[in-house]
Amino acid sequence: MFESEFCLDESIIHLNHAAVSPWPRCTAAAVKAFADENASLGSRHYLDWVRNEQYLKEQLRQLINAQSSDEIALLKNTSEALSTVAYGLAWKRGDNVVITSQEFPSNRIVWESLGKYGVETRPADLDQGDSPEAAVLACIDNNTRLVAVSSVQYGTGLRLDLEHIGASCHKRGILFCVDAIQSLGAIGFDVQACRADFVMADAHKWMLGPEGIALFYCRAEAMDRLDLKQYGWHMIEDQGNYDRRDWEIAVSARRFECGSPNMIGVHALHASLSLLHGVGMPAIEKLVMENSAYLIEQIDRHSDYRLITPREAARHAGIISFAPLNDTPETLYARLVECNVLCAVRAGGVRFSPHFYTPREKLDQALDLLDG
Ligand SMILES: Cc1ncc(COP(=O)(O)O)c(C=O)c1O
Repeated sequence: MFESEFCLDESIIHLNHAAVSPWPRCTAAAVKAFADENASLGSRHYLDWVRNEQYLKEQLRQLINAQSSDEIALLKNTSEALSTVAYGLAWKRGDNVVITSQEFPSNRIVWESLGKYGVETRPADLDQGDSPEAAVLACIDNNTRLVAVSSVQYGTGLRLDLEHIGASCHKRGILFCVDAIQSLGAIGFDVQACRADFVMADAHKWMLGPEGIALFYCRAEAMDRLDLKQYGWHMIEDQGNYDRRDWEIAVSARRFECGSPNMIGVHALHASLSLLHGVGMPAIEKLVMENSAYLIEQIDRHSDYRLITPREAARHAGIISFAPLNDTPETLYARLVECNVLCAVRAGGVRFSPHFYTPREKLDQALDLLDG
């Protein structure tokens, strides 16, 4: 249905959107057009580029339902945004941060690095307790300053109930930070409903953008809690006035962007999000979830495979991981890649992550290979 929007080679079965996604046709065209414009006209239309940057922030605002695009900064990647939070907050010895036991290293290492200031990182074992959320909340005590979780775990595909965790954090005056890279562009996200103070996500997964440009959301009320570690011409209130000697930090989240923007990334991600918003996030989420349900149903038919991802629809998004019972995941992975199935070895199994546009026949081609 959406194949015309993509130009993937017919030989490729791309089930790896949880890693690095292919660009849609419109994104490739936007980058080519930007390159041509640079080469022929230089920065003659720089103001249009800046306008595109503003449109992009508005598209991102809509994607997460933020109150204002002033709460959105464009950073390099998820890790940089997490570091902006971790090294912006004022810690004292004995403080702790609650994460989960399944986090991608970006959302673990940065918190562990605060150990040098006497800050403890507490990984909640998501398999313990009545629910994954209960496991997270059980780790909170009077010294917890922040809870940092991925909305969808990169390996198992487990989806957390962010509203549940966010409500508890809010009630207890604890900051809530969400690595949303495995959600944004695949399923709906509502930063107001989940009461997150900080949200981050690079563009290159479900948002179908390039690597090296990331959303960083900082709730307006939390802005002044983050001390800045990077300074430059771009992050002051009166940014265009190079002659003025006095300066003030920008009121908006532009304060986190110290210098020139990644304009090529801006043009690329703007195009990718135009496609996603054109289709509409509710329609995309429905198709992503249908693909996930289909994969689960088919994998369940194989008695020699074990599903790693939770079956219940509310507990997963676009990531479906499973393990062969009579083989290693690495051997299965090698067989799949040999046949051009792009996927990954994660969480002790193989991870499939098709997007909304992935045709059913491509899923069937990959599933056929499970028979050995
Ligand atoms: C949950 C999660 N966070 C972060 C990243 C990547 O972080 P960055 O944007 O800093 O490369 C990944 C990549 O796999 C991920 O799965």
